[in-house]
Amino acid sequence: MYGTAWKKERTTELVVKAVLAGFKGVDTACQPKHYREELVGKAISELETKHSIPRASLWIQTKYTPIGGQDMTKPLPYDPKSTIEEQVKSSVETSLRQLNVDYLDGLLLHSPIPTVELLIGACRYRAEPLVGGEWLGLGKSFWTLSGNPGLLKSPPVLQFAKRHGMTVEQILFKFCQSIGITPLSGTTNEQHMKEDVEVETSANLAAFEVEALEAALRRAGAQSN
Ligand SMILES: NC(=O)c1ccc[n+]([C@@H]2O[C@H](COP(=O)([O-])OP(=O)(O)OC[C@H]3O[C@@H](n4cnc5c(N)ncnc54)[C@H](OP(=O)(O)O)[C@@H]3O)[C@@H](O)[C@H]2O)c1
Repeated sequence: MYGTAWKKERTTELVVKAVLAGFKGVDTACQPKHYREELVGKAISELETKHSIPRASLWIQTKYTPIGGQDMTKPLPYDPKSTIEEQVKSSVETSLRQLNVDYLDGLLLHSPIPTVELLIGACRYRAEPLVGGEWLGLGKSFWTLSGNPGLLKSPPVLQFAKRHGMTVEQILFKFCQSIGITPLSGTTNEQHMKEDVEVETSANLAAFEVEALEAALRRAGAQSN
């Protein structure tokens, strides 16, 4: 999955390059502070018109960002005084307009909602068929390289990278996939895009390697706490 945060005016160019390199999913957010959804939309149109890659072949997901994650000096995608249900609805409608698509494959909750009552309210807004796949990200998890610095330099990652002739980043992404997690890459480098996509078709890690990486992950987590 290609992550589009912090790409600013390079968003369109990089999303097009990532999809041409083989990424099948694009992750964005209705959060102007860090994402340019309208430029992701421009990339989706460009992929269809210039490269014959239809929107339906891509997994497009965005996020409802609670007010604490929004920049109050920028136009908000919803009225913060409205109910949470109305906020999610307005956020989804804004995303559809900015992305210039008629449905989303996934909608994620960008950050925790303060109370269970508010969470229930957010989930109450159902927009099928506008959101075809994951709803408010309750069933899927994502991982990033920068979120796992300890694991990335751990001995088993270094050892397995050498054994498989892969980079440490590729081993970490392969490990994510082995345990059912979708890796998110936001690389701006075309060689890295290629390497990230190659992970999908690379040989599976052995069961003992996955176990060793799980143990390293627990150790890295314990050290960072
Ligand atoms: N980190 C967060 O707090 C956070 C929060 C919300 C959403 N996200 C989303 O998740 C995506 C990924 O997050 P991230 O923080 O790990 O950012 P990322 O943009 O994937 O950054 C990873 C860093 O590793 C480098 N890198 C080296 N080899 C790589 C390889 N093979 N593939 C990918 N990167 C490689 C990248 O440099 P090069 O560009 O030179 O490859 C970059 O400096 C973001 O783009 C964003 O959309 C992240």
